[in-house]
Amino acid sequence: MEQRTVTGRAMRAMPLAGLLTGCGGVQSALDPAGFEAEQVARLFWAMLIASGVIWVLVLGLASYAARRRGQPWSQQGASRLIVWAGAVVPTLLLAVLLFYGLRLMPELRAPGGPLRVHVEGEQFWWRVRYHPPGGAPVESANALVLPVGQRVEFSLSTRDVIHSFWVPALGGKMDMIPGRTNRLVLEPTRTGEFRGACAELCGASHALMAFTVRVVEPAEFEAWLAREAAPAAAVEPAAQAGEAAFLANGCGACHSVRGTAARGDIGPDLTHLASRPTIGAGILENSAENRAAFIARVDQIKPSARMPAYGTLPETEIAAIAAWLGTLR
Ligand code: CUA
Repeated sequence: MEQRTVTGRAMRAMPLAGLLTGCGGVQSALDPAGFEAEQVARLFWAMLIASGVIWVLVLGLASYAARRRGQPWSQQGASRLIVWAGAVVPTLLLAVLLFYGLRLMPELRAPGGPLRVHVEGEQFWWRVRYHPPGGAPVESANALVLPVGQRVEFSLSTRDVIHSFWVPALGGKMDMIPGRTNRLVLEPTRTGEFRGACAELCGASHALMAFTVRVVEPAEFEAWLAREAAPAAAVEPAAQAGEAAFLANGCGACHSVRGTAARGDIGPDLTHLASRPTIGAGILENSAENRAAFIARVDQIKPSARMPAYGTLPETEIAAIAAWLGTLR
């Protein structure tokens, strides 16, 4: 009985808690950290307040009509009510809201700055390529780092199915559609850690297709990009066995670790894996234990992922690979 009461109370509190937690955090459009997201949040609040006002007006009219039931209307009074409350006021209100929404669009579609980032949706992760002005492209995956206060131009594509690229705290979502490249401009307005997600059902692990976004000062971004562009540091003696096992088991056929013999292009680039906060496209904390678990049981952790599970390898070999990946800063 006691249990049921507690559960019942928790159940009743859940929608409220959900509503409140939904307003903040690393993945909330209502806690904006970007120019575009601020416009979207402003539009949301304007629409919410306007619809609240309309709702109260309609309720007022309904209760007025209920109270007047049985009393006759004059022909003229009825016509006036229909014209004003039924046509003129709704048309004006909708026109104002439409004009307000349209007015935000040109600013959202303005061109981006010199930094371009190409993101390609894969099943189920994000291939990332930075195109710094005047520099060579820099390959990465599943973890974006962006400079605060700069408009960054994203080009978005996919080779397999439709995905949708969305960082709610920074801006609106944009679909990735096979055969075309869509563009999206994001301008972070404050530093911090945020989370992006795939917003289009794309397969069994659609809900496990996320990424991290770290917004930093421009100088820190330049330093990060220079580090990201460099090949992996020379392997530490203690990690040599891990690198050897990685190459011997064919991992390099799918993954690249620049500076080693691993040159694959099918899976995510792992050159600086250890500097990313998560593995498996935003789903597991980047720890040695989780890296080992991912290698051994990826089929259970990420259903339908193209990477095969390597659970048949000796545990010591998996641990060595996971440890070596942890040295790739
Ligand atoms: Cu990719 Cu859903």
